[in-house]
Order: sequence, then C-alpha cells, then structure tokens
Amino acid sequence: MPMHPIALHEALTAFDALWSPRIVSRVNDYDVRIAKVEGEHVWHVHDHTDEFFLVLDGELHIALREPSGERTVTLAKGSVFTVPKGTEHKPYAPTGAAILMLEPTGTLTVGDRHEEVPAHVDVTTGHRVDAEPQSP
Ligand code: NI
Repeated sequence: MPMHPIALHEALTAFDALWSPRIVSRVNDYDVRIAKVEGEHVWHVHDHTDEFFLVLDGELHIALREPSGERTVTLAKGSVFTVPKGTEHKPYAPTGAAILMLEPTGTLTVGDRHEEVPAHVDVTTGHRVDAEPQSP
C-alpha cells in the first residue's frame, strides 16, 4: 500500500470511471476504497461481511431488502452507514457522489450473489492507485 499520505480530493480527480473503486489504503485486512458513482449499481449481497460507506461528496442512496421489507437510506455528504452482512442492497446516486468504503480485502463490488451486472458496473476487488508522493 502507499507509504505516503493520499489527498482524497486529488485521488478522485485522477480517474473518471464510475462504480470502479480505487484502493487508497489498507487497515489490517481491510481495504479503504474510494469511488465515483452516478446512476444505479446492482442488487447484491455480501454473505460474509458488513460494508461501510462514507459519503465524501454528493448524495448516496442505498436500497435495502430487509426481513421487514424494502427501504432506502439516504446519505448526505459526510454521512456514514454500514450495510450488515447478508443484507441485499443496491446503492444509487441519481445526481452523482464520491464515496469511501471499508471492507475486507478481496471483497467483490457485486458481492457473493447479484442480479445481472450491467456494462457500467465494474466487477472488481478494487484497483490500486498509483498516486505519486505529494511535492512539498
Ligand atoms: Ni455491496
């Protein structure tokens, strides 16, 4: 992992791909990932791990299918939310957002089970960032 500080706003300007997380750091066996998102992700579920979201910019909605029914949580900039393991969910952002996620290294963006993946969703365990150290 990078052994120098990474400015998130700069890391976010370094790529344009949507729903395609970049790994900016690692904490024990967890990845810290950032992503630009707009439109809809897919319904999917992580059978073995929770998934943490922090909204860096914009607004993120996460639809949830819980035993009691379906609901949507809305996260404004600066909000956090954790989707519990085993809960089917679909993030979406009609007007776009930048998000940070915390999840175990190797976690697939589309989970262990998912509906058909559209072309705009990147099926990945996260891409490395090749950010250079900041000049003084
Ligand atoms: Ni997920």
